[in-house]
Amino acid sequence: MSRLAPFLVTFLATATIFSLFLLYSPNPFLISPKQGLNDLNSVQNQTSIRAAQKEHQAPDRTNIKLLPPPKKEEECDLFKGHWIPDLRGAMYTNSSCATIPESKNCFRNGRRDRDFLNWRWKPEKCELPRFDPKTFLEIVRGKKMAFIGDSVARNHVESLLCLLSQEENPKDIYKYSDDRFRIWYFPQYDFTLMKLWSKYLIAAEERMVNGSGSGVFDLLLDKVDDKWAEQLPELDYAIFSAGHWFFRLMYLLEGDKLTGCVYCNEPNVTEYNNSQALRMAFRAIFKYINDCKNCKGGLLTLLRTFAPAHFEGGAWNTGGYCNRTSPLSKGEIDLGRFDWELRSIQVEEFERAKKEGEMEGRRFGVLDITRAMLMRPDGHPGVHWGNKWMKGYNDCVHWCMPGPVDYWNHFLMEIIRNEGGLVS
Ligand SMILES: *[C@@H]1O[C@H](CO)[C@@H](O)[C@H](O)[C@H]1NC(C)=O
Ligand SMILES: *[C@@H]1O[C@H](CO)[C@@H](O)[C@H](O)[C@H]1NC(C)=O
Ligand SMILES: *[C@@H]1O[C@H](CO)[C@@H](O)[C@H](O)[C@H]1NC(C)=O
Ligand SMILES: *[C@@H]1O[C@H](CO)[C@@H](O)[C@H](O)[C@H]1NC(C)=O
Ligand SMILES: *[C@@H]1O[C@H](CO)[C@@H](O)[C@H](O)[C@H]1NC(C)=O
Ligand SMILES: *[C@@H]1O[C@H](CO)[C@@H](O)[C@H](O)[C@H]1NC(C)=O
Repeated sequence: MSRLAPFLVTFLATATIFSLFLLYSPNPFLISPKQGLNDLNSVQNQTSIRAAQKEHQAPDRTNIKLLPPPKKEEECDLFKGHWIPDLRGAMYTNSSCATIPESKNCFRNGRRDRDFLNWRWKPEKCELPRFDPKTFLEIVRGKKMAFIGDSVARNHVESLLCLLSQEENPKDIYKYSDDRFRIWYFPQYDFTLMKLWSKYLIAAEERMVNGSGSGVFDLLLDKVDDKWAEQLPELDYAIFSAGHWFFRLMYLLEGDKLTGCVYCNEPNVTEYNNSQALRMAFRAIFKYINDCKNCKGGLLTLLRTFAPAHFEGGAWNTGGYCNRTSPLSKGEIDLGRFDWELRSIQVEEFERAKKEGEMEGRRFGVLDITRAMLMRPDGHPGVHWGNKWMKGYNDCVHWCMPGPVDYWNHFLMEIIRNEGGLVS
């Protein structure tokens, strides 16, 4: 316990920020989740989307101009590299993208330094192609893609929307519960993009005290979160991420049986740490995907690895800040940090699932962004974010837009280009 104590302080401090960031939003489940999904099905007009998809089942590939895949693919780890100066800057601004949320519109909220936009990711042994909205939309023509996770997953999809809107403005066809469930549709490309909110990916129930949420969760290890699972059969791309909600008091259940806890410190309950709980959650969701009978044969499951926060000089609520204006070098990051442990656990579970799943024809890919983002303490809103009720605290968790978070989509394009089946 004493050995863990300093960790706990960091973990819990990091964790608590999410209760403030996220629980202040209106209750997402005032309408029952079931009802929400029915809405979701009716609003998006499955009939027309299906018809459109059918039409595009065998796309005419002759007019699709895609770059050939890199020659020495196996030698290049896209995610091992460093940031180098690049004066081309960002691919959109707060005027060319209308959908930047206030909380990530750093320039509007007073950020003055702009140099943090002038860097690009350079993998050691190859190049990462710059995002191209046309190419991306050609790859995903007729497909459905969902981002499944917490507010950092939302940040990722918001960046993708800005990047894609430079080519085509999507139709906003579904919005539910304060942005937690969203669907956009790109008519020219018959592409459906979804954001499906899930804090833990597996099923979780918040313990109630006197009729209000306690911030303590029961995690149901043998059940995935229905709210994405019900959509899974429709999807061609499912991008999973999680982690920031695991830094809090949690009880772990299998069936009705309490099998352990995280941070509960009760003598009769087996104590696990948050990494172990994260492992159990990822193992469960990947198993669910490998066992999925009604999923599409071509489903590509992607893991987006843990995104580090960068509080310096304190925790989020004790004056921690993130006011750097340029990236760190390779040598300056600490892979002994808990961020890297969480990332490695996710990757281990991913590799295990991939090995089992690929024998059955399942397809997996990884957006292993942790290392690159450990080098970007300059990418967060810090004091420059719009939510007035958090005044006095810094947001060193989410990411400015535009900003280095856009690189998650440069990676995404490259991964689906090579895994997507269009390039043979
Ligand atoms: C859904 O789309 C189909 C085909 O385009 C159309 O016939 C039908 O009227 C639409 N339904 C609704 C509820 O919009
Ligand atoms: C964009 O950022 C500038 C500062 O760089 C700010 O003055 C302006 O209000 C912002 N515009 C929008 C639409 O957010
Ligand atoms: C719940 O309400 C009861 C009665 O009002 C009160 O005594 C108790 O302290 C409350 N518990 C918590 C955790 O707030
Ligand atoms: C463990 O002990 C606590 C208090 O000592 C009690 O409230 C709880 O019900 C016990 N849990 C189990 C699973 O026995
Ligand atoms: C969590 O527990 C595992 C297994 O005991 C251990 O290897 C790991 O270092 C622990 N992580 C932390 C952050 O304490
Ligand atoms: C960042 O903020 C800290 C604490 O307010 C301050 O001491 C430091 O000088 C700032 N650094 C820069 C580069 O502004």
